Amino acid sequence: MLSQNAITVLERRYLKKDAEGRPTESPEDLFKRVAQAIAEADKEYDVDADIKATQDIFYDMMYHLKFMPNSPTLMNAGRPLGQLSACFVLPVADSMEDIFDALKNAALIHKSGGGTGFSFSRLRPAGAAVNSTGGVASGPISFMKVFNAATEAVKQGGTRRGANMGILRIDHPDIMEFIQCKKNTAEITNFNISVGITEEFMKAVHEKREYSLIDPHDKRECGKLYAPDVFDLIVKMAWTNGEPGIVFLDRINRDNPVPSLGEVESTNPCGEQPLLPFESCNLGSINLDAMLVCKDGAYEFDYTEFEKTIRNAVHFLDNVITVNNYPLKEIRDMTLSTRKIGLGLMGFADILYKLRIPYNSEEAILLAEKIMKFLRETARDASNELAKERGTFPTYSESVFKSKGMVQRNATVTTIAPTGTISIICGASSGIEPVFGLSYIRNVMDNDELLEIHPYFEEVMKERGLYSKELMSKIAQEGTIAHLEEIPKDIRDIFVTAHDITPEYHIRMQAAFQKYTDNAVSKTVNFPREATQEDVRMVYELAYELGLKGVTIYRDGSRDAQVLNIGKVN
Ligand code: CDP
Repeated sequence: MLSQNAITVLERRYLKKDAEGRPTESPEDLFKRVAQAIAEADKEYDVDADIKATQDIFYDMMYHLKFMPNSPTLMNAGRPLGQLSACFVLPVADSMEDIFDALKNAALIHKSGGGTGFSFSRLRPAGAAVNSTGGVASGPISFMKVFNAATEAVKQGGTRRGANMGILRIDHPDIMEFIQCKKNTAEITNFNISVGITEEFMKAVHEKREYSLIDPHDKRECGKLYAPDVFDLIVKMAWTNGEPGIVFLDRINRDNPVPSLGEVESTNPCGEQPLLPFESCNLGSINLDAMLVCKDGAYEFDYTEFEKTIRNAVHFLDNVITVNNYPLKEIRDMTLSTRKIGLGLMGFADILYKLRIPYNSEEAILLAEKIMKFLRETARDASNELAKERGTFPTYSESVFKSKGMVQRNATVTTIAPTGTISIICGASSGIEPVFGLSYIRNVMDNDELLEIHPYFEEVMKERGLYSKELMSKIAQEGTIAHLEEIPKDIRDIFVTAHDITPEYHIRMQAAFQKYTDNAVSKTVNFPREATQEDVRMVYELAYELGLKGVTIYRDGSRDAQVLNIGKVN
């Protein structure tokens, strides 16, 4: 079942090893270890629970590559570290003690395979007075560099490279410096950065006027900027090398299920999980490809299997919260108070190939909505069932669910993660992304490269008698088959790849999934190299209109080291 690439990935970082670095468990042992550790939680709620039965269900889901929890769960469940979450947000308050507490806590989280998000918006701007020393403050960007250096150092000893998200509000006085802080791509490399955009700012952009900058220290207005110029600069920098991204803070807070706990200021590193300060979340994804059945030579989506898998996955993820070993008491308390989980999916592009639906079609958008609606409704129902057996999340009575009369065990249930590594384990296309290339080189685990040919494409080409080594290597060089006349049109229409899809379709697909996702959706909008800044601006505007929570764009060739490369073969 597992591909060679999957085994390579598991051996490198996930399997238990002896002192000489040789694996002491097989992938099956790993799934058993994880299933056992996570099933244990059932005992907390029912002393007579049939742990073995639950363990078998969890094992079966992972073994058959139907569902995979996020990497830290696979790495650490049933082992001494026991830290199972991928996503954390840490507060950064405006004092030396608080800044360096956050730094230390981030190092502990990175060591365990988790990623950290921070808002630096509460830090006073560069040049502001420091009372205790009579000196001047260094400002958010210089502290981000310190966090970046610490991440770099921890990266060597940890389970995987630490990732960070850095967010600054659009009304922070240092915003212009922040927008340009990754202009030099060799700087702040361990951070993704996003500008925290407000409704007030978007209004000012559309009304072509100034907006106020606020000193976070005394909350007073301390200057003004012309909004269209600031928006232009964000667009220009994103066009240049993909950063910064943007997040719509007011929208994220509109969906905050327990507003009394405070304001959401940041997301996790890849942007799909907005969290309160000190909150963590564990993610898991269903492999849609494993939800297909083949009848009379044609594929169909099996909603019965999907429903069963969703219910078991919600049970699994709720158990993770219970048995998780939290790196800090504050994180434990906060996470247990909302019990947020993030169930998502992977393999969407794969199933479109098999169902013969082009990614860039209305049919694909409708299928996305149907699948995600089903996932959310079933997950909510499963969370409701758990609440009846185990109780609601502790802050339920202050939550938006209480007023709606919806009894829930978990304050959020759905998130669409990038599934960078777990999609390799499952041999599935990542998250909701289109297939990047039908044949390409993927850089994984920091420096290693893996050659991938899409297996279903290979199968179809062989079936039609069109497969040849020469053609495959030509496709690997070109990255797309859209213009290859020697391939029949019906195949070219279905096997579209990331660069055949217009940015508008990328955004519309993201919006289709976001419509039924509690948290956010990880998606990169790919632009061709020749795209203009105006193209990027239009996509940002569309993202705003369609109600997205954030956007990340990437223009082909705009960075030296890309994770995915067209036309690069060994
Ligand atoms: O596939 P996997 O479970 O490894 O992770 P993912 O879905 O690609 O990423 C989910 C989240 O894991 C990210 O948003 C980060 O919070 C975290 N992550 C990280 O901390 N470091 C990485 N190198 C990759 C992911």
